[in-house]
Amino acid sequence: MTTATDIIKKTEDLLVSTYTAQPVVMDHGSGVYAFDTDGKKYLDFACGIAVASLGHAHPVMLETINKQASRLMACQASYATKEKLACAEILVANGCFDQVYFSNSGTESVEAALKCARKWAYETKGPEANEIIAFRNSFHGRTYGSASVTEKRHSQPYFGPYLDGVHFADFNDIESVKALVSDKIAAIIIEPVQGEGGLTPADKGFLQALRDLCDAQKICLIYDEVQAGMGRLGTFYAYQSFGVEPDIACLAKGMGGGFPVGAMVAKRAFGKAIVVGTHGTTYGGNPLACAVAASVLGVMLAPGFFETVAKTSARMFAGLKELQRESNKITDIRGMGLMIGVDTAFDIKELLKALQKNGLMATQAGKGTLRLTPALIAEESHADEALEIIGKTLKEME
Ligand SMILES: Cc1ncc(COP(=O)(O)O)c(C=O)c1O
Repeated sequence: MTTATDIIKKTEDLLVSTYTAQPVVMDHGSGVYAFDTDGKKYLDFACGIAVASLGHAHPVMLETINKQASRLMACQASYATKEKLACAEILVANGCFDQVYFSNSGTESVEAALKCARKWAYETKGPEANEIIAFRNSFHGRTYGSASVTEKRHSQPYFGPYLDGVHFADFNDIESVKALVSDKIAAIIIEPVQGEGGLTPADKGFLQALRDLCDAQKICLIYDEVQAGMGRLGTFYAYQSFGVEPDIACLAKGMGGGFPVGAMVAKRAFGKAIVVGTHGTTYGGNPLACAVAASVLGVMLAPGFFETVAKTSARMFAGLKELQRESNKITDIRGMGLMIGVDTAFDIKELLKALQKNGLMATQAGKGTLRLTPALIAEESHADEALEIIGKTLKEME
């Protein structure tokens, strides 16, 4: 019989090392729980890092996948399909955007947004307007454009040269942005809640100041909602939790509930910069991905869904604050909705290992933040279950 250890060892040997190997092998999931190959059950508060928005094996997703896979899975991108239209209609009807570009991942959504914004600026401001302002502690992906607007580029010089003309401002500091603004700036890209950087929400006033600045200077404002969007903050789009609209938003992760699909959504004045022959993708907008995404988004938009997210979020934040009162080992609690960060006095790797042992799956963000991104279907009882495991684990570690 192949043991979990065998699978891990062989996988480490055969795959390029992109992530630190976990000591267990995941086997299947059901609702908010995941199970390893030894049959151990975990409360999954990682969800593929904010991906499994409807938890595991959601019946609506399963039905859609089965039905669509047996009807039409692939179709040349130039054809319209009912599935592509249905998904685009949902994205447009529920926000401030007019047009959709389908991609297959977060990084591709960001690439599309950067290209769209630069072409818009080239045509409206001139060829010199090709520079971008991004933020310290940002994360936008790993392809060249998205990596170029990710601050980590400075610690990965071996991938250079990156895109020229990218400037980094301080998050939540409008003066640091103003200091970088010139006629050369095409776009500002920001995560409304910084995810990988450590679960830091933008201030509403800061986003409004960015909006005003972009309007005054004719700069395209891009929100990277790959992690924070699609219900994670308790609103369909992340921007709706702040009441400040971007010109373009980047989506992925929770949009497909685990199926690889993403999108760039844009206001028409910006989206129309992309014309036939300037951008595209073989798989983007394929009928299976669009059918699944439409079904996931349909579940989210049903009455009561976001109320559950708000209740579970409130319970998590209240419970974490209670734990902080009991233990001086919790040093900070941050985040919004079901995108929650906890700083502790413990080594994050040790903490994650201990939580995993006690049946809770979570992930790391930033240098040492515990990141909790449960399925959006998680209820208050699941929050209580997670809080109990966290409380117990912190006590054990003390
Ligand atoms: C805010 C943000 N943007 C972009 C990405 C990249 O997405 P992907 O890994 O699907 O390419 C991520 C992934 O974590 C993200 O959190």
